[in-house]
Formats: sequence, structure tokens, C-alpha cells
Amino acid sequence: MTRDHRNGAVVLREFVETDVAGIARVIGDPRVTRWLSFDARPPEAAHALVVGAIEAAARDGDSRVEHYFAVDVPERGTDPVGFVRLGLSGVRAAKLGYAIAASCQGRGYATEAVRQALGFAFGALGLHRVSVAIGPDNLASMRVAAKAGFVPEGRIRDHVFTNGAWRDSILYGLLRPDWEAVSRTEPSSAPEPGPPSWNADPGIP
Ligand SMILES: CC(C)(COP(=O)(O)OP(=O)(O)OC[C@H]1O[C@@H](n2cnc3c(N)ncnc32)[C@H](O)[C@@H]1OP(=O)(O)O)[C@@H](O)C(=O)NCCC(=O)NCCS
Repeated sequence: MTRDHRNGAVVLREFVETDVAGIARVIGDPRVTRWLSFDARPPEAAHALVVGAIEAAARDGDSRVEHYFAVDVPERGTDPVGFVRLGLSGVRAAKLGYAIAASCQGRGYATEAVRQALGFAFGALGLHRVSVAIGPDNLASMRVAAKAGFVPEGRIRDHVFTNGAWRDSILYGLLRPDWEAVSRTEPSSAPEPGPPSWNADPGIP
């Protein structure tokens, strides 16, 4: 993404070096990382993430294989409130990830940031499929995904090792036609997801 995407309060943009402190507050907070694929990381990791993304953007532009976006809410200050990641993998496909600082959750920021990232993924990048792997108890993330049009596709057993244990993920997928259909409707019309029905039955893939 080489330009800002803005809607309402939320701006999705490329990282700048001064984002390190804001990102450190996100990936260094166990309240956030308990839902991610890694445990809380020190500030040096936030520095490496931000600088690595800046270098990849300068080197590869829109053809990079991993796109990181800062989620900015200018009225809350200059530090980003979170990030979105699109990792290209497969045929015109990408894996999506996102996180919002604990103090900034519940205000619709992830919903809008994901919507903008998908616009970029299916627009400028011309992708056909985006997926997101979500912990079976992560109802907030499932709601964000459902509002964007994702549907549950199956359960990945022992997908990540985090918080000292293996954890399954529920794989959510969004295809271009799904996204085009959801883009034409109001976000509020997305169905309530609830936990997928196979949550209660780990034997069903
Ligand atoms: C998931 C996450 C990104 C959501 O960010 P956010 O900015 O709070 O999300 P939004 O405010 O846009 O939307 C959250 C939705 O989840 C709902 N929600 C929140 N907690 C919930 C819960 N415990 N059960 C059910 N729904 C819940 C909210 O009501 C809202 O839905 P609504 O708009 O229909 O009311 C944030 O909680 C986070 O960073 N979590 C830790 C990291 C993470 O889980 N990343 C995703 C990994 S797959």
C-alpha cells in the first residue's frame, strides 16, 4: 500500500519509524497477544517489525510479499492504535492478521481497518482469496471477520504454539465474489457469527 486509506476516524497507512512505540504497546501486551500466534514480544521486536516493513516497502513496493499497515486514529494521537498484516501465500491469496491496542478496542477500529485492507487486497493487489486463522475462543475477531464477509471453512488442529500450549484455529475465508457482495451492503447487515458450530466438536474438521 503506497497511499493512505481513510474512512471516518481510521487511517490505514504505511509504517514510519516513529510507530515503534505504538506497535510495542500492541505486541508487548499479553492481553493482545494471548489471541495471536506468538507470545508478548519486547520493544526490540516492535522495532524490527516496523523497520523491516519500511525496508520491504522501499525495496519492493506493492510487489512485496508481506504488507504491514499502521492503523491510525488521528484524534487519539500520533501513535498507531494497531496494525494489519497481509501475507501473500498461494495463488492470488493472502493471510490476514490484525491487532488493536487493548485500550482502544471496541470502537470499530479493527472493522474499518480490515475493510480498508481488503479493499487494497482485492483492488490493487488483485487477489482472489484472503484467509484469517482465528483462535476458537476469539469471538471479537470472529465478529470482525464476519462483518467483513468471511465465512468459517474448517478447523486447523494445533495450528499455533502460544501461551505455553498448542492451540487450534478456525480458518475463515473470503473470496473476491463474497467481498464484492458485502461491499455493496451496509456493514451492519452482516450476520451475527457466534462461534462456528464445530467449536463444540473438535472431531469434525
Ligand atoms: C480482535 C480485535 C482486533 C478487534 O478489534 P476492535 O477494534 O475491538 O474491533 P471492532 O471494535 O471493530 O469490532 C469488534 C466486534 O467484536 C464484538 N465483540 C467484542 N468482544 C466480543 C466478545 N467477547 N464476544 C462476542 N463479540 C465480541 C464487538 O461487539 C464488535 O462487534 P459489533 O461491531 O457487531 O458490536 C481486538 O480485540 C484485538 O486486537 N484482539 C487481540 C488480537 C487479535 O485477536 N487479533 C486477531 C487475531 S485472528
